[in-house]
Amino acid sequence: MTAFPSVDLTVYPYECDAYGHLNHAALLALLERARWETLARGPGMDLFRRHGVWPTVRKATADYRAAAFPGDVLRIDTAVSQRGTTSVTLRHIATRLSDGAVVAEAEIVFVMLDGMGRPTPFSEELGRHFGPRTSGATAREALGVAVEGAELAVEVRGEGPPILFIHGFPFDRALWQHQLAALRKWKRIAPDLRGAGGSTAPADGYSMARYADDLVAVLDAVGARDAVVCGLSMGGYILFELLRRHADRVKAVILAATRAEADSEEAKRGRDELAVVAERNGQDAVAERLLPRLLAAATRAAQPELVDDVRAMIRRVPVPGIVGALRAMRDRPDSTGTLGAVRVPALVLVGSEDQITPPPVVQAMAAAIPGARLAVIPAAGHLAPLEQPLATSRALADFLESLR
Ligand code: MLT
Repeated sequence: MTAFPSVDLTVYPYECDAYGHLNHAALLALLERARWETLARGPGMDLFRRHGVWPTVRKATADYRAAAFPGDVLRIDTAVSQRGTTSVTLRHIATRLSDGAVVAEAEIVFVMLDGMGRPTPFSEELGRHFGPRTSGATAREALGVAVEGAELAVEVRGEGPPILFIHGFPFDRALWQHQLAALRKWKRIAPDLRGAGGSTAPADGYSMARYADDLVAVLDAVGARDAVVCGLSMGGYILFELLRRHADRVKAVILAATRAEADSEEAKRGRDELAVVAERNGQDAVAERLLPRLLAAATRAAQPELVDDVRAMIRRVPVPGIVGALRAMRDRPDSTGTLGAVRVPALVLVGSEDQITPPPVVQAMAAAIPGARLAVIPAAGHLAPLEQPLATSRALADFLESLR
């Protein structure tokens, strides 16, 4: 992630509401001032004009954590969380200097427009300023962990109680990139499963049990006795297997966009058909089959770059990894009996527009887990961690706080 210099700004009385709190419009204005300040200190405030483009906000989300008052000095940290061909996502964190409280976090997506209002690729200088195009978390350095018959690429960030992230199919750990950046009080551990992303892809031997045992090897390699385990979709199927095989390594569970039932006969046939598509026509054909149902309509309209990023992530999964995962999912056992046996804190999460694991299916699963909390992420499809990163990270952070 490219980081810009921190900027300290004082909150003025006229920026606050009748109760003396920094108001929403003023916070956005402070963040904007911080951005211009970093340009002034770096490549110059005329950076965009020099290149005949203008950065236009396409989407802005802000998550408020604490009130700020006149006289507070806020440190604004700014980093690029995603960079596409014509767009960039900036992540801001505003922290009050006097007590270190995080006042707000915001994510702002900009698209570069030319004078005719057309999205325009970054020039070389702009590209240098914002850093290289992100191709997801695989661009970050990863630890190599040897497991039986494969080597896994594992991203480990920060210190604190461990949380292990398991991606779904056919993705890699880039699925969790925003949560890996945001959950700073935790040691975040995000492997690429065997056959995905930067891990090696054995020709065969894929099963839920194999994936689960790989994850135990990952926990051993990073010195984690146990961890909160967060799995999305296929990651959830693997988490059920972890609960059955290695319950003592699971401190709490986060089940995102997943289901407990095994595949129906029709679904099994679908797995076999998709495996044939992968073998005959490669990852692109798999991506085109899956993409229409993965993201919410609102995401596809407002964040076309995200569609490209998800396509790129699918392309990074080697064909043997795709076929192996499809067979492992086809043959996975039913996990409904596992739900009632969960004895650790549980959060169940789903996007309100998820077509693959629709909210009623996920809600029923949550109801079967003793004491489970449920979070429905608005305006997200199957990939809430990427589509609505702030809301997803917030739901995770609230749950994690409740465990401390
Ligand atoms: C996933 O996201 O992991 C898949 O949708 C799971 C599945 O195909 O059952």
